[in-house]
Amino acid sequence: MTVTADLAISLDGYIAGTDVTIDNPGGHGAEPLFEWIHNLTSWRERQGMTGGEENRDSQLMREWFDATGAVVMGRMMYDTGEEFWGDNPPFRTPVFVLTHRPRPTLVKEGGTTFSFVTDGIHSALDRATAVAGDRNVDIAGGASTLRQYLAEGLIDELQLHVVPALLGAGLRLFDGPGRHPRRVEPLRVEETPLATHLKYRFVK
Ligand SMILES: NC(=O)c1ccc[n+]([C@@H]2O[C@H](COP(=O)([O-])OP(=O)(O)OC[C@H]3O[C@@H](n4cnc5c(N)ncnc54)[C@H](OP(=O)(O)O)[C@@H]3O)[C@@H](O)[C@H]2O)c1
Repeated sequence: MTVTADLAISLDGYIAGTDVTIDNPGGHGAEPLFEWIHNLTSWRERQGMTGGEENRDSQLMREWFDATGAVVMGRMMYDTGEEFWGDNPPFRTPVFVLTHRPRPTLVKEGGTTFSFVTDGIHSALDRATAVAGDRNVDIAGGASTLRQYLAEGLIDELQLHVVPALLGAGLRLFDGPGRHPRRVEPLRVEETPLATHLKYRFVK
């Protein structure tokens, strides 16, 4: 089982803009981070829409969906995504939401469940691993959540979709406590007009 992380990031290292709220999930100025996704066939399929463009970016998105058997995310990512994902969220797998506030599990259409985990990152990862089968567990974000898994050395592979934009301000991925030097081994570089897709494996 491989633990992955897969995020869109600006050239200057931001995964969200400033002033993230439920009404403005990506934060102010974050549009360039997610623009490359909206018209991909694979993304639209998962949102219950037809059409879009079937290009290399779309294939990479589909690769993530196909490879992922369970997802872990922070409560902030859940809160900011909940309305947008709707009744049939794109994950179609169990999702474990880290939080300090217990809540009953939510069962959505299409195979997505949201379980709220209050006993820490190891417990969430164990629960995700138990149901992922031979597919990956993806630590979907946001920054606070991913930093904790990075600090504990629990991520095996990291894919960054670097969009050609500088945000100038916002939520940085590689910041905060728990940082220490790490070696990564490049697995793949794919360049498209929309984003540069960088995939790395952490050296254990
Ligand atoms: N660019 C991308 O690809 C990408 C991907 C994902 C997310 N994002 C963005 O990231 C932003 C959210 O990131 P974020 O760093 O603000 O928040 P986050 O990591 O999504 O969530 C933080 C919250 O998760 C809970 N949590 C985290 N660690 C915990 C632990 N060890 N034990 C218990 N609860 C824990 C806490 O919730 P409680 O307060 O409930 O205790 C905490 O307030 C959003 O703007 C989203 O759009 C971007």
